[in-house]
Amino acid sequence: MTAVLLLNIACLLTFCLPLAELCKLAIHPKAPIVEFGGSVKLNCTSTCTNYTKMDWEVSFERDVQEGEGWISLNIKNVTEWTTQPLCVAKFKGSGSIHTRAVIYVYQFSNPDIYLASEIESGHSDKIICNISSLRVRDQILPNVNISLSRGAILLNSSHGEPSLEYSFVPNLIRDDKTEIICMAQVEVGSEVLNKSATRTLNVVASPYNVSVLANPMMYKADAKIVVKCEAEGKPFPEFSWDLPSNSSVEYSNNIQILTIHPAQSFHNGTYRCLARNIYGTKSAQIDILFQERSRSWIAAVVVVALLAVVFTGGIFWYHCRK
Ligand SMILES: *[C@@H]1O[C@H](CO)[C@@H](O)[C@H](O)[C@H]1NC(C)=O
Ligand SMILES: *[C@@H]1O[C@H](CO)[C@@H](O)[C@H](O)[C@H]1NC(C)=O
Ligand SMILES: *[C@@H]1O[C@H](CO)[C@@H](O)[C@H](O)[C@H]1NC(C)=O
Repeated sequence: MTAVLLLNIACLLTFCLPLAELCKLAIHPKAPIVEFGGSVKLNCTSTCTNYTKMDWEVSFERDVQEGEGWISLNIKNVTEWTTQPLCVAKFKGSGSIHTRAVIYVYQFSNPDIYLASEIESGHSDKIICNISSLRVRDQILPNVNISLSRGAILLNSSHGEPSLEYSFVPNLIRDDKTEIICMAQVEVGSEVLNKSATRTLNVVASPYNVSVLANPMMYKADAKIVVKCEAEGKPFPEFSWDLPSNSSVEYSNNIQILTIHPAQSFHNGTYRCLARNIYGTKSAQIDILFQERSRSWIAAVVVVALLAVVFTGGIFWYHCRK
């Protein structure tokens, strides 16, 4: 034991140390980042040429090229997650120097955005962004950040997870046709790699904002009445009606408008419009009221008759006074 130690010290003091001290090794690139299965070429250079041998120490079959003061290592297919190739220069006797490269092997697939092909307005739903394969060297969960945004608005973000979820209640006006962007950043060695994915939201909606308008709402016999149903929805709704009477009713504008002409007393009643698409049906209604012309006509006749009586009575009385 002591003998070995002394021998080592002797060696260091005589020629190993001076030789080794004069010489330096450098690898370029020193910490390359390589995708799993990819290739990389490392070049080891020496500041001196008086070594007896320069070499790469690796656990797999070497593919090297060398010249004076350098030796390069070619790795065509990086399949070891934690490779750290060692470059060694040996000197006369047992002296040697070495330096190590660290290869940052990684796997980082494009993010996938999962969302229903049709999202229904007002019904809670979720968007998932997932990175199916993600690894950096021996870190199963590397330093990863994921964010989900709608246009420029950040919806949710996560750190250290390969997947991110966003729950929401879609709104036709706010969300339809907007872009959902998932961005992922992974730290690999000294670099930060970016990948992103984009999907467009397709929001559908059962009919809403259904209303019925009638002009006029009160009518007399033979009048012309126009009744209109308005609704929104995606796809745009189809219309149908529940009517007090179907006679002398005409439809137009894809059954959205109905015209009654001439209106009769039997047209009096409740007009119900149904707006329908594949996601649902909604209705609205209006009362259209018939006003009997006869009564006002009788009233007018009575008033005129009374006035006539008063007038004639007045004249008669005037003549009698004379
Ligand atoms: C992720 O975000 C955290 C906090 O904002 C930050 O410190 C970290 O550097 C980010 N990592 C990457 C890979 O961008
Ligand atoms: C109905 O329409 C009005 C404006 O026309 C709008 O403000 C409102 O949000 C709509 N209702 C729904 C449920 O979208
Ligand atoms: C007209 O219809 C309304 C309901 O919409 C009803 O209350 C009213 O009695 C009806 N009038 C006539 C004259 O039928």
